[in-house]
Amino acid sequence: LSVVAVLLLIIIVAVVLGLTVGRNTRTLKTTFTERCEEFKGYDCEKLWGVFERAYVGLDPCEVPMEAYDPLMAAVPFKPECNRKIFWSKTKDVVHDFTEKRDCFYTVEETLLGSVLNGLTWCGKEGSSETFTTGCPGWTDCANNTVRSFWNRVSAAFADGACGDVTVMLNGSIATPFHPASVFASIEVKRFHFPRVKRLNVVLVTQENFVTNCTNASLKDLQKELDQGMTYDCKEVSEAQIQECSSNPEKPCGACW
Ligand code: APR
Repeated sequence: LSVVAVLLLIIIVAVVLGLTVGRNTRTLKTTFTERCEEFKGYDCEKLWGVFERAYVGLDPCEVPMEAYDPLMAAVPFKPECNRKIFWSKTKDVVHDFTEKRDCFYTVEETLLGSVLNGLTWCGKEGSSETFTTGCPGWTDCANNTVRSFWNRVSAAFADGACGDVTVMLNGSIATPFHPASVFASIEVKRFHFPRVKRLNVVLVTQENFVTNCTNASLKDLQKELDQGMTYDCKEVSEAQIQECSSNPEKPCGACW
């Protein structure tokens, strides 16, 4: 009897896994196009095609950021001053804020950032399919399909930054400005004076915060900025940001 039970269990697991994998593959395109349709004036079927051509048939560890150049060209980032917000290790707090308030937007609120937010995809040599499982992880290899996309889209988003730029960094970690982060390695390098006039760091603190604006990594950040660019850093509690998120009548300028 136990042999039968084990066999049955194996069959059930295999069927469930099979269905899940199949469904994931089919729904990547669906998710992409559904999220894309939220933005008016784009041919989402065509964008899916441009997107796919960046990685299908390639070793998923050998997709350079430039592979996504045609996709960036198909959806140019409109230049907009003073409203872009960047972040590092503050994903939840920053998105809770940008979702609820119309002060700033992150790359994840733009068309390309939003269609692929939270998703995994890759191709395989000799195949014309898109896979959503078995893809290399973020740090498995430098030029992986997903990481190269985020590097490329972040570069494009940062290239269009101007005026006052804001970044939310994490005051609960020892190195809020970490050299390996996308913010440090890609985005900051693209802020140029006089187009970008000012960088406002919002250092998000919690009760037992370990870092403040005198942190050594923030000195490194200041050193990276062009001559003439103004730098500012404020320690702001997560509670204060949440308070601003939930009180839309509070002016954006009064949030911190
Ligand atoms: N493993 C898996 N995912 C990772 C890893 C990792 N080691 N590092 C980064 N990521 C992905 C995750 O999706 C994570 O939520 O990048 C996201 C942001 O990573 P952080 O280390 O928190 O921040 P950072 O690398 O600075 O990237 C955020 O890049 O997306 C742009 O404009 C955006 O300013 C923002 C910045």
